[in-house]
Amino acid sequence: MKVDILTLFPEMFVSLETSIIGKAIETNAIEINTINIRDFSKSKHKKVDDRAYGGGAGMVIRPDVVYDSYNSIQKTKNTKTIYLSPKGSLLTQEKVKELSKEEHLILLCGHYEGVDQRVLDKIVDEEISIGDYVLTGGELPAMVLIDTVTRHIEGVLNKESIKEESFSENLLEYPQYTRPEIFLDMKVPEVLLSGNHKEIEKWRENEAINITRKKRPELLKKEEI
Ligand SMILES: C[S@@+](CC[C@H](N)C(=O)[O-])C[C@H]1O[C@@H](n2cnc3c(N)ncnc32)[C@H](O)[C@@H]1O
Repeated sequence: MKVDILTLFPEMFVSLETSIIGKAIETNAIEINTINIRDFSKSKHKKVDDRAYGGGAGMVIRPDVVYDSYNSIQKTKNTKTIYLSPKGSLLTQEKVKELSKEEHLILLCGHYEGVDQRVLDKIVDEEISIGDYVLTGGELPAMVLIDTVTRHIEGVLNKESIKEESFSENLLEYPQYTRPEIFLDMKVPEVLLSGNHKEIEKWRENEAINITRKKRPELLKKEEI
């Protein structure tokens, strides 16, 4: 998958070069490019924003600089352009799986009060929000999207680890334990030491249902629908 990011702060994306995403970049499972929207400003001081028509606090990113930066990207008929926005539809595991099948994503990161609506109407296929709160910019949401989508790209993670994760089958994951066997007087549940795979599977399934019922009962209701 190729991901082009339109941003005013490309330096923020260096943190993607670590751990599992770093490895996915190294193995070409994903290619990530940043395009600095400011490079497309025609003004002497590289200004990219201006006051909002109609008044109000804060600045709005101009449509022309965004459009020119978008036009600098080579596209195919399979390119999908996403604007990270608190007004978008919520990013869910379901949506993540769907996006992991895309060939080419363009992610537009807003800042300040947002982006002029006219360029959004012209270039954006979909608006996605990472939660019902407002962040300073679209950079962290874009990184969240890239991180979670990359985990679902074929070959990046072991298929088993994705299958049993939280939100698969509308359940949260069962609790995990590792060495030492006894920690601060607390013992690892006996069944996990038994070597009986059928019993372990049964225990994990029950735990997953109990945890989901306790912490996120609405997920179980989703399953019933
Ligand atoms: C300060 S916010 C603008 C908020 C906007 N004035 C509003 O009230 O809807 C600046 C940028 O951060 C990004 N952003 C903020 N919260 C977000 C969220 N929950 N999900 C995705 N992107 C978000 C968007 O790209 C947005 O253009």
